[in-house]
Amino acid sequence: MRIGIVGTGHVGGTLARLFSKAGHEVVVANSRGPETLRGLTGELGGRVRAANAADAARFGDVVVVSVPFGRYADLPAEEMSGKTVIDTGNYYPERDGHHQDLDQDRTTSSELLQQRLSGARVVKAFNAMRWDHLRDFGRQSSAQRRYGIPVSGDDPGAKRQVADLVEQVGFEPVDAGSLAEGRRHQPGTEVYLADLTGAELHGRLGAR
Ligand SMILES: NC(=O)c1ccc[n+]([C@@H]2O[C@H](COP(=O)([O-])OP(=O)(O)OC[C@H]3O[C@@H](n4cnc5c(N)ncnc54)[C@H](OP(=O)(O)O)[C@@H]3O)[C@@H](O)[C@H]2O)c1
Repeated sequence: MRIGIVGTGHVGGTLARLFSKAGHEVVVANSRGPETLRGLTGELGGRVRAANAADAARFGDVVVVSVPFGRYADLPAEEMSGKTVIDTGNYYPERDGHHQDLDQDRTTSSELLQQRLSGARVVKAFNAMRWDHLRDFGRQSSAQRRYGIPVSGDDPGAKRQVADLVEQVGFEPVDAGSLAEGRRHQPGTEVYLADLTGAELHGRLGAR
């Protein structure tokens, strides 16, 4: 599969590593330009190249958005139209600036991203585990004990696509419901950064 990654920091860089290892073609982008990603592309080899954000978005059948919430307005929305978009993001007001509707839990950061990317199918995933655990825990999984990744979204086909990717990198996808229900795996919830197995996550979130 062709995967574009917009935001290639801790999480985006880790996903570039995991997805390319799983055999996917990956194009990565950040805000400073492709030349600043030479270290990463050199390390990860031929399946990963760097581009600007619009080209990475155009390239991907699936596009990962892994930027701070405060930068969502800068994303190339048109280029993501028709695509499955994985939102790894979390809202941290001290980092991102206060947003009243989020502070009062009237909506979620992923729903706001979906509004911004109205032609895309946004799925929230890979947001609830620390990046270094994401890097290491997939390969430490065994048939008996697989770490879980909550996946939420409104489009069943897009969710299945993302669940497949979660499995391919060694984790158990756990259906956490709609994009609005994605609030159940945001910062401040009991499952956030809790490093739960798939079975434990199912228990906390309610199996679907
Ligand atoms: N760190 C974690 O353990 C963790 C775990 C789960 C979820 N998350 C969430 O995932 C998101 C990313 O976190 P992170 O820790 O990976 O952040 P990070 O290391 O600070 O990386 C952010 C990336 O976004 C890029 N970026 C910022 N604005 C951009 C724009 N307008 N266009 C394209 N790229 C842009 C940055 O590029 P430049 O450096 O060139 O500006 C950088 O590559 C956040 O919402 C975070 O809360 C983080």
